[in-house]
Amino acid sequence: MSESTHGMWSSRLMFILAAAGSAVGLGNIWRFPYVAGENGGGTFVIAYLACIFLIGVPIMIAEIVLGRAGRKSPINTMQDLTARSGARSGWQVIGWMGAIAGFMILSFYSVIAGWSLAYLFEMASGVFVGAGGDFASAQFGGFTGNVWVVVGWHSLFMLLTTFIAARGVGKGLEATVKCLMPALFVLLILLVFWAAISSGHFVEGMSFLFAFKTDQFSGDSMLIAMGQAFFTLSLGMGAIMAYGAYLPKGTSIVSSAVTIAVLDTAVALLSGMVIFPIVFAHGLEPSAGPGLMFITLPLAFGQMAGGQLFGTLFFLLVSFAAITSAISIGEPAVAWLVEKVKVTRVTGAIAIGGLAWLLGLGSAFSFNIWSDVTLLPGRSFFDTMDFVSNNVILPLGGILIGLFAGWFLDQQILAEQLEGTPEIVIKLLRVLMRVIAPVCIFVVFVMTFVG
Ligand code: TRP
Repeated sequence: MSESTHGMWSSRLMFILAAAGSAVGLGNIWRFPYVAGENGGGTFVIAYLACIFLIGVPIMIAEIVLGRAGRKSPINTMQDLTARSGARSGWQVIGWMGAIAGFMILSFYSVIAGWSLAYLFEMASGVFVGAGGDFASAQFGGFTGNVWVVVGWHSLFMLLTTFIAARGVGKGLEATVKCLMPALFVLLILLVFWAAISSGHFVEGMSFLFAFKTDQFSGDSMLIAMGQAFFTLSLGMGAIMAYGAYLPKGTSIVSSAVTIAVLDTAVALLSGMVIFPIVFAHGLEPSAGPGLMFITLPLAFGQMAGGQLFGTLFFLLVSFAAITSAISIGEPAVAWLVEKVKVTRVTGAIAIGGLAWLLGLGSAFSFNIWSDVTLLPGRSFFDTMDFVSNNVILPLGGILIGLFAGWFLDQQILAEQLEGTPEIVIKLLRVLMRVIAPVCIFVVFVMTFVG
């Protein structure tokens, strides 16, 4: 098939913007700086880069290849490709697992993204101007502790996501990334310059991000680096596969994937370059954990000249990044519903958005009325969703995608999709896809459960 029934990206650039929009999200701006901060800065960055390029890029290429070869939702693409390859139908589990993981990720992602929206408005209103540390943490605690407020922002974010998804691939997804991604890059560059000039601690921030501190890099850090690589590149659940289904024929998959990974990595590193100089300028802890973005940063912004404006721009950046990611998390399920039940895009988007919203209530409650409730031992509803999707389903999905594309897919199909790629690159890719990536993921995966 040369076209998808859902629509197509109008150019290679639009695909790259959409996939980069999916990849660049809370994972880059909220999560990357604090996990790097907790795991030894520069040493973690090296491990993370290795995971991105040795494991992430090959799996991303595999997802795009499968998506473009099938041209349908991941569930039906897998059904199609297993049939065409004479492989066992059990491989279709890749599509199903992905759809389930998508619900789980979208549900808690929307809660955190809702916080970012809320902080956008708080920053703009000047609540944090001149605020001290106690105020910033009390503010965060009071905010997340109020069930109505958290549910309200979660609902607003899900509504936005559903609205864009309902408008379809061209008028919804592409139109959104076309505006928001360039804006995102401009905002980020602006913030880097501001942090560099006004913090007076740029060098300290940079050396934290790039200097080796092996003593803080524990055994777990490697696992965290790999989990982060998967999450940040949106891999393992078919989001990129769904986007690959809309990629025009004749564009190079390999160079697109490398471009997307480079952009994503650049945003993560640049976010670190904004955040750490600000953190150091105020003598704050770089390893503050998940509160880094919602407590430490507002505090720092409140203390700095121009902080109200640049703080507002910062949370605008985060909100843009979150929305272009959220639409990709829901896409596999929306596309499947449209294909399977033959509903319109609008109905499909509302159904998926509504279900994810409902599931998200559990995560929203985890910070207030359900703060004592555990789903898995010692894990709140929110932590359970995060853990099961990121640490179980995504790696497992990654292994299966690599193995399927490398061993079981009709290799004629692989060759067609990678046409134009130098022979030596294809050889290298196949080794990475079918052996190195699955083995590495498996080792890390097992270590997560043993250690
Ligand atoms: N990559 C996004 C981020 O860094 C999140 C995301 C979007 C995602 N789509 C995904 C994560 C699919 C896993 C799977 O925030």
